Amino acid sequence: MARIFITGSSDGLGSLAARSLVEHGHHVVLHARNERRAEDALRKVPGAETVLTADLTKLEETKQLAEAANACGPLDVVIHNAAVYRYGPDALLAVNVLSPYVLTCLINKPKRLVYLSSGMHRGGHPNLQRMLIPTINYSDSKLYIVLLMKAVARRWKEVYANALDPGWVPTKMGGPGAPDDLEKGFETQVWLAESDEEAVKVSGLYFHHKRHRPYAPAADDENLQEEFLNVSAQITGVHFPG
Ligand SMILES: NC(=O)c1ccc[n+]([C@@H]2O[C@H](COP(=O)([O-])OP(=O)(O)OC[C@H]3O[C@@H](n4cnc5c(N)ncnc54)[C@H](OP(=O)(O)O)[C@@H]3O)[C@@H](O)[C@H]2O)c1
Repeated sequence: MARIFITGSSDGLGSLAARSLVEHGHHVVLHARNERRAEDALRKVPGAETVLTADLTKLEETKQLAEAANACGPLDVVIHNAAVYRYGPDALLAVNVLSPYVLTCLINKPKRLVYLSSGMHRGGHPNLQRMLIPTINYSDSKLYIVLLMKAVARRWKEVYANALDPGWVPTKMGGPGAPDDLEKGFETQVWLAESDEEAVKVSGLYFHHKRHRPYAPAADDENLQEEFLNVSAQITGVHFPG
C-alpha cells in the first residue's frame, strides 16, 4: 500500500481521488487551505491518514506544507491537484504554478508525481516573462504545469512524472453544467498513483481518461523548461534540487 499526498483535497477531484485511494487501502495525506476546510476534508474522507493545512497563495505556508508532508514519513506519490480558475493573476500564479513547483522542490522525492493540467493549457502563452509581472491566465498556468512535469521527467529519471487533463467535470471549479463524467475526472490520477500496470510506469506523458494525449509542443522545448525552473526560482527563492 502506498502513502499518497494530494494537494487541494478538501473538495472536488482531490477529495474524490482521496476517497477512492483510501477505499483501495492506501495511506492518504489530505491538504486543505485552513483548519475549517481541514475538518471538511476529513469528514469527506474519514479513513485518511491525516490532513495538512496551508493557504497556497502564501509562499511561506507552502514551504511549511512541504516540511509537514516530509514529516509524515516517506511519500510514494504526490498528486499536485490544487488550483483556482476564476481568480486574478497573483492567485493563479501562486496556487496553480508556484505551489506545485515549490512542493516538487522541497518534498522528499516520491516514486510518482502526478500533475493536474487541463485541455485549456493548449491556449497558454509560452512567454514566461508574464510570470514576473504577473499577467498570466488559467490557460498559461496549466501550460506551465506541463512544463514543470516535463522538466521533472527529464531531470529525475528515477521518478514517474506525468500530467493529465481530467475533462470538464461538475466540481466547484467546473460548475454544475460541466458536460464530462465526474467519475472519469479522477480515475486517471488514481490509476497513475496506484496501478502496477506497465502503462503507468512511464514519465513525461500527458493523459486524458487513461490514454496518452498530445500536449502543447512548447512543453517539449528544453530551454523553455529550464527557463521555467529559473523564473520560478527567481520568484520563490527555492531552487530545483540538483
Ligand atoms: N473541474 C474541471 O472541469 C477541471 C477541468 C480541467 C482541469 N481541472 C483541474 O483539476 C484540478 C482539480 O480541480 P477541481 O475541479 O476539483 O477544483 P475545485 O473543486 O475548485 O477544488 C480545488 C481544490 O483546491 C483547493 N484550493 C484552491 N485554492 C487553494 C489555496 N489557496 N490553498 C489551498 N487549497 C486551495 C480547494 O480548496 P477549497 O475547497 O477550500 O477552495 C479545493 O480543495 C485542478 O488542478 C483543476 O485545474 C479541473
